[in-house]
This record gives sequence, structure tokens and C-alpha cells, in this order.
Amino acid sequence: MLQKKTVVVGVCGGIAAYKAVEVVSRLKKLGADVNVIMTENASKFVAPLTFQTISHNPVVIDMFEKPVRWDIEHISLAQKADVFLIVPATANVIGKVAGGIADDMLTTTIMATKAPVVFAPAMNHNMYENVIVQKNIETLKSAGYLFIEPDKGLMACGTYGKGRLPEPETIVQAVVDVLAGKQNISITEISCNVASGVGGKSDLSNAEGEINQDMKGLRVLVTAGPTIEPIDPVRFITNHSSGKMGYAIASHAAARGADVLLISGPVHIPGPENVNVINVNTAQEMYDKVMEYFPDSDIMIFAAAVADYRCAEIHSNKIKKNDEEISIRLVKNPDIAKEIGALKGDRVHIGFSAETENLLDNAVKKLQSKNFDMIVANDVTMEGAGFGTDTNIVKIVSGDGSIRELGKMSKYDVAGEILNEALNILKRKKGK
Ligand code: PMT
Repeated sequence: MLQKKTVVVGVCGGIAAYKAVEVVSRLKKLGADVNVIMTENASKFVAPLTFQTISHNPVVIDMFEKPVRWDIEHISLAQKADVFLIVPATANVIGKVAGGIADDMLTTTIMATKAPVVFAPAMNHNMYENVIVQKNIETLKSAGYLFIEPDKGLMACGTYGKGRLPEPETIVQAVVDVLAGKQNISITEISCNVASGVGGKSDLSNAEGEINQDMKGLRVLVTAGPTIEPIDPVRFITNHSSGKMGYAIASHAAARGADVLLISGPVHIPGPENVNVINVNTAQEMYDKVMEYFPDSDIMIFAAAVADYRCAEIHSNKIKKNDEEISIRLVKNPDIAKEIGALKGDRVHIGFSAETENLLDNAVKKLQSKNFDMIVANDVTMEGAGFGTDTNIVKIVSGDGSIRELGKMSKYDVAGEILNEALNILKRKKGK
């Protein structure tokens, strides 16, 4: 698809630099000639050798290092680029280019190119929202530079917000679109479509840029993550849930003013800001905590991947290996969501359905058998959906059987859509 196209990739010094490796790899697989320029700082995050090996081209960092080609490197790369992609674009490099500063190989080459330049910013959300950074972005946009809108989501610094680098496939698609001549319709629009999908507005901010406090006074209980079911002191049964979906819901609800209780299985992500977290391990522990706290909630969202079975017997000592086969007898765990379905009263009760086949049939069965008001069905076999990913692709099935299909979007935006629906259901229940 990108045969005979030259993509110059500028990598800046941010934690998201590791994602640029995947971007380069994908561009290369599409047939592009990829040339990487790194800033000094970028080379502290990812070794230049990594990019060199994947791109099959030398990586340039220093303006004054011994030339590997006879020509003037920054001029030759600037001229041969069909498109110039800066990924991740830091506040520093955006600021330098906006201010006309060209003091290293990357910024010099950007200045010297006539190719379309696409910035994919990634930084802490406070930095991204900083007025100076936003002004620099506007300056560059009005000068014809293109921008891929960052995603909202969990950041490396442990907070949620806008500033995450979009997924590599989104960035590569933007490059493909630019090369296909679609840059006039603005990459910002393209990536917004990917990020927001269809349907209701899930943006957190009102016209003044303040976060809508439309969940103030509401109590939201969320389950998230996997459960782990011990076999012996060193082994357990679990699943691939990372907790990202449930944590995004909890974080989004808290940002909208809700009082949020997150009951979480063991995960490796930090607890969201302004959310009370109760950590549990097993399904039985999650059941106990949900039963204790659900009476104090208005909205309950079950995003956890709870183990349906546990070991009938937990060995007190490590099971020793021998020549025999062994089997483990499993017994059923309590179905938390189902029991709550019978007790929910006028609370809003929302479930998830993680499926590998017959997505809608299975989701509808669960919606009915667990007495959910709504179920979020995700086909966990799809790329960019389900376990561990930062994005999800879901179908929202309502109690009346209507189905809303959302495109691929960040889990944070999926959370926004779910909470919008939850508020509508709550209003209907309360007759408002
Ligand atoms: O955590 P991530 O990596 O971000 O991945 C997100 C996710 C794929 C885990 C999430 O989107 C999801 O689909 N969660 C539900 C997974 C699941 O276990 O689905 P299920 O079809 O087995 O269960 C149906 C519903 O009943 C779920 O709401 C589940 O929380 C609930 N349940 C299931 C079994 C049980 N014993 N008790 C329950 O409450």
C-alpha cells in the first residue's frame, strides 16, 4: 500500500516513544521506506538500534555525527519525505517548531521539508491543556501542519485525561490517508471519528471547558478486573482482564462528580483519582463486598471478569509434580450480577458480556437472566476490543432490545457512553 513512499518518522523524548516502534514496524510492513530521526532525549527512551533494525535504515540523531551518506542529511531526508510524521510529538518539539527554532536534526529537517507534516502529540494531560501548548498547536495548524488528536485515557503518570498517544493503527491510518491526499479533510477529524464513534456526546467538558458535573450526588458502584481462584499457595486460575475498562468507568464517573466505589480484582494499574477502591482477590470476596455496599448505590456497573468456577479444594501446600496426570475439580462461584439482579430495586444495573462467538445472542441471554437494565457486549476476539487493550468495540443492548453499535474508541470514551446511558435509564426509572 505504501510502496515507493518515503515516510520520515521523527521520534521525540516521551514515554510513548515505545509506541513509535510499532508505528514504524506497521509502516514498513505496508511497504514504506521509513527513515527515523530521533531527538537526543528520545534515544534515552528507546535505543536507536531498535528503530534501525525495524526500519532497515540508519537512524539519525546528531547533526554533526560522521555522515553515512555523501549528501546533507537533513536536506536529503526533508526532500525525500512524502510525509513527515512526528510520533510522539512532545510539548518541547511542538513549541520549538511553532517558534521557528531549529537546533537539532529533527527540528531542522521539519523546517526544511515541503512534505505534509503530521504531529501525533503525547504528553501529560495538564501539559496538553496548557494554554501555551494549545497556542503553539493552533499556530502550527494555521500554518498547515496536521495533528492527530490525542486520546483520553490512563496516562503513564497514573492520571486519566487527554494526552495519550492514539493506538499505532490509528496513526498509520492517518499517514495512509495523508498519502492518499485526504489531508484536506483534517486528520483531527479522522482521529476524532475513531475516538468518539457514533451516538451521543461523551465529551466531559462543557462549552467553557469545565467538566460537566452531571453525576453529582449519585453513588456509583463499579466492579473491575479479574478474580483469581487459588489452587494451592503458589498457583491460581484467572483470566486476562486488566481492569482498564472498569477503571475508566470509575474514573469517568468520578470526574463527572459521582461518589464512586470501585471493587477491584488484582490489576496492575493505579487506582483512579477521587475513587474509593476496595481490593479483592476471589469471586467470593468480590461477592461479599458487592453485597455489603450495593444498597448504598444508584448505579451499579459490572465490568469485572469474575471467575465462574473455583477449586473445590485449595491445597494447603504446593502440589508436587509426579508422573501422574492430575485433575482439579471446580465448583461454581456465586453469580454476583445475577443475585443483584433480583435485589436491585430501582437501582440501575448494567453488565458486560465478553464473548468469542454469537455476541448478541449471548449478550441478550445474559441481559435477561441477570435482569440487567443494559448490557455492554464486547467481542473479545476483535483487534482493539476486550482484554488488556486501551480501546474497545462494543454494542450496547438496552432492556427494550434496542442495540447501539459503537465504533472503536478509547475505553474512557466507551465509559462516557455507558454513563450517559446509565443516566438516561436512571431518569426513566425516577420518572424524570
Ligand atoms: O479489564 P479489561 O482488560 O479492560 O477488559 C474488559 C473486559 C473484557 C473484562 C470487560 O469489558 C468485560 O467484558 N467484562 C465482563 C467479562 C465477563 O466476565 O463477562 P461474562 O459474560 O462472563 O459475565 C457477564 C456479566 O456478569 C458481567 O457483567 C460480569 O461482571 C458478571 N458476572 C459474571 C460472573 C459472576 N460470577 N459474577 C458476575 O457478576
